Amino acid sequence: MTLLEKLKNRRSYRKFDQETFDIQLLIDAIEAAKYAPNGANKQPWTFCIIKDPKIKSEIRLQSEEIEKAFYEKISDQWQKDLDHLNVDTQKPFLEQAPYLIVVFQHLYQFDKHGDKTKVYFSDKSVGIATGMLIAALTDLNIDILTYTPSPNQFLSDILKRPANEKPYLIIVCGKGSKSYKLPDITKKTNDEIIKIY
Ligand SMILES: Cc1cc2nc3c(=O)[nH]c(=O)nc-3n(C[C@H](O)[C@H](O)[C@H](O)COP(=O)(O)O)c2cc1C
Repeated sequence: MTLLEKLKNRRSYRKFDQETFDIQLLIDAIEAAKYAPNGANKQPWTFCIIKDPKIKSEIRLQSEEIEKAFYEKISDQWQKDLDHLNVDTQKPFLEQAPYLIVVFQHLYQFDKHGDKTKVYFSDKSVGIATGMLIAALTDLNIDILTYTPSPNQFLSDILKRPANEKPYLIIVCGKGSKSYKLPDITKKTNDEIIKIY
């Protein structure tokens, strides 16, 4: 399949096989994502690859605690919008998948003298790099889930990231389980989303 065909077939998996693969594939994908356009070329991102089962377990444990509180506080409308995805407070995929990539966004950086320096359009830049990373992973036939626990500060604590880095999202990477029933969703038509002037 071409990359375009692979991207059109990409789906989010919430159940993964435990079989692993060479970590170099993830490094290759991140290396492609680092060429993403970004504000003033500050490259305001760090990609943490987690393969250690103990760290994955800790991330799962703390995520499930957060999810309990999350589902209690979200609006009825939000809950309704999530219903068709069959998601709940349990996140076994965080341990099933061989790798997690936790993307961190830089809020500021430091120059070579240790003085604080600014970053520009960090949100947009990290979003674009994450999109390119997902495309690269898709090209390498790696299935993913973008997972966004909220709040997510616990990820900085577990991974001991510095204060200038804020967790952005988790990309769960592996082989999607054949027994996972993909939600029956549709995508908007080109006419709905493309306006030519
Ligand atoms: C920013 C973002 C956050 C998401 N957060 C979650 C999440 O926390 N849990 C989850 O199961 N799926 C999450 N998803 C996956 C979406 O639910 C999924 O992409 C959407 O339903 C479309 O399905 P598809 O990816 O299979 O096309 C997230 C996706 C994005 C882009």
